Amino acid sequence: MAKDPNLPLLYSDDGDGFIVIAHRGASAYYPENTMPAFEGAVAMNAEMIELDVLMSKDGVPVVFHDLSLDNHTDGNGYVPEYTLSELKKLDSGSWFSKNYAGQQIPTLEEVLQFAAGKIALNIEIKTEAVSDIIDGGVEQKSLELVKQYGMEEHVLFSSFDYRVIKHLKKLDPTIPVALLYNKHQSKNQLPHQQVREFSADAFNCSFRQFSKKWARDLREHGIPHFIYTVNSKRKMKKLIKSGVTGIFTNKPDVLHQVKDRF
Ligand code: G3P
Ligand code: MG
Repeated sequence: MAKDPNLPLLYSDDGDGFIVIAHRGASAYYPENTMPAFEGAVAMNAEMIELDVLMSKDGVPVVFHDLSLDNHTDGNGYVPEYTLSELKKLDSGSWFSKNYAGQQIPTLEEVLQFAAGKIALNIEIKTEAVSDIIDGGVEQKSLELVKQYGMEEHVLFSSFDYRVIKHLKKLDPTIPVALLYNKHQSKNQLPHQQVREFSADAFNCSFRQFSKKWARDLREHGIPHFIYTVNSKRKMKKLIKSGVTGIFTNKPDVLHQVKDRF
């Protein structure tokens, strides 16, 4: 039976209808998209973790944001040029602090194993991992892993590439998917029109794009909406007041403090 609205079930829902999302984990305090960042998010009572997925050369979904390895590892070149075992040799923690030297790029499977039974996930599929082919594509592989770890009711997929929504809904119409606003694919439509066109379950966008008009449109149509990436208390307050469903932040502890004062 479909949930209403079709959003992931939270493990630590405090019942206020607002969702604290740790963006790339608690990434203000730990190297982004690494296990310490995800553990930190759980320790800070985030209700969901957002992570980014790319594919290795040998077709394994890995958790990493940039296509290039240059800024956040000791390697260089692009993620899809390396096999998983080559990527695993890289250090993805030292760029942040020597305390995290030797951290490895996690696979999606490793993060699912960690999150299962503990915390909901927003799995953002990066455009560079997407193709027109559904069979064996990043969406199918990621969905299979999600199901393998019994997380299908605890994940929200999203992507700037709207093909991901189409592919996932074809593979499993019940899996929650958010449309991650991309102005090149949106045809100047209002958020509710875009969400409807793709049979998406939620709308995600940057605080820079989020206008009063969009807030009204989303509220009027009862569409859950999540805004990224907000680290200032002032902006958090403003968005919570406007009734957003959730906020992506690198500082889940700060968002909790702000939210608790409402
Ligand atoms: O999913 C929200 C946000 O993470 C999208 O932008 O570039 O931080 O992955 P980016
Ligand atoms: Mg992201």
